[in-house]
Amino acid sequence: MNALMQSARFGELHLANRIVMAPMTRSRADSDAVPTAVMVEYYAQRASAGLIVAEGTSPSADGLGYCRTPAIFSAPQIEAWRQVTDAVHAAGGQIVVQLMHCGRVATHHNKPAGSRTVAPSAVLAQTQLFTDTVGMADTDMPDALSRAQISQVIDDYRQAALNAREAGFDGVELHCTSGYLPMQFMSENANQRTDEYGGSADNRVRFALEVLRAMADAIGSGRVGVRFCPGNKFNDIVDSDPAATLDALLRGLDGMQLAYLHMMRAHTRKVDAFAAARAGFSGALIVNDGFEPDSAAQIVAAGQADAVSFGRHYIANPDLVTRICEQLPLAEFDRQTLYSPGPDGYIDYPTADVRTPEALS
Ligand SMILES: Cc1cc2nc3c(=O)[nH]c(=O)nc-3n(C[C@H](O)[C@H](O)[C@H](O)COP(=O)(O)O)c2cc1C
Repeated sequence: MNALMQSARFGELHLANRIVMAPMTRSRADSDAVPTAVMVEYYAQRASAGLIVAEGTSPSADGLGYCRTPAIFSAPQIEAWRQVTDAVHAAGGQIVVQLMHCGRVATHHNKPAGSRTVAPSAVLAQTQLFTDTVGMADTDMPDALSRAQISQVIDDYRQAALNAREAGFDGVELHCTSGYLPMQFMSENANQRTDEYGGSADNRVRFALEVLRAMADAIGSGRVGVRFCPGNKFNDIVDSDPAATLDALLRGLDGMQLAYLHMMRAHTRKVDAFAAARAGFSGALIVNDGFEPDSAAQIVAAGQADAVSFGRHYIANPDLVTRICEQLPLAEFDRQTLYSPGPDGYIDYPTADVRTPEALS
């Protein structure tokens, strides 16, 4: 039997198989960050995954940064997410939501009036973001968070975790990579602080650990996961010693009894992220980045991971589990429609034709 087809229990999450849908921003929410009807259909189509990690979703208005990305702080947002989770559960799936606070990777063109762009320190992110109104735009100069404001942001995450449960999600995943707020704290360039949140690796991972603790206290540690990728430079992040940062994070996670650690492969020789995670984390390990059905089955069969998440393969293969199980070919996705609004290139990828020869005759 393919090792990916075995069921698993990660904390309070019950996975029918070891194939996880990785979180993917697809920009189909409305301009108020409310999930839309096509998102209900999209996630329901992919419910055979052992676990869906729904796309990066903001815990607060301040945490938004991109256009048409969803959030989970207002009543209409919670209500709309409820449609998504109901549809996934009706189809037999499990779904958690990835909480993503963009921090300094944000432009006011993509944010509601009155919201702020915040970061560990007032250091501009050297990147640009797409907007529906003015095309590509520079990021905002962020306001450095005071300690009282850091507590408020942590509380926003805590409330978002509660909102996620109210919306029917089985749990939450903290987005702790790709240059967003928790990784800004972990970096050496975006974080210039001299208090207990800056300086040493232990200080730089403090924010992420406090957020995780707050969310675990609110909804139970068995419903909280965390995603990380040491050495990820995306969105202008500098970390000269990613092994030390990962070590500090893993030490901090010890004893928290989280549902899982979702580890992306690090594209640096400075750290072997999967091996370090396996050795330094006692809970369930989901690995990601560039896996194919065969390599995914191999790493789980070898006991080096408990599950594998697939991102890009899930775009054009809503029935990825069936295709892997039946060794059917995988379809290619269309880049042009990755972030475009509406149903095209989103809910129109067909399932494979798995009719038996008898049914075809
Ligand atoms: C369109 C797109 C959107 C993505 N959005 C997110 C996101 O919101 N959060 C996140 O953690 N990763 C995001 N990723 C990264 C994927 O989760 C995944 O790590 C990446 O695609 C590598 O896995 P793969 O080789 O299976 O595609 C995104 C990737 C793609 C292609």
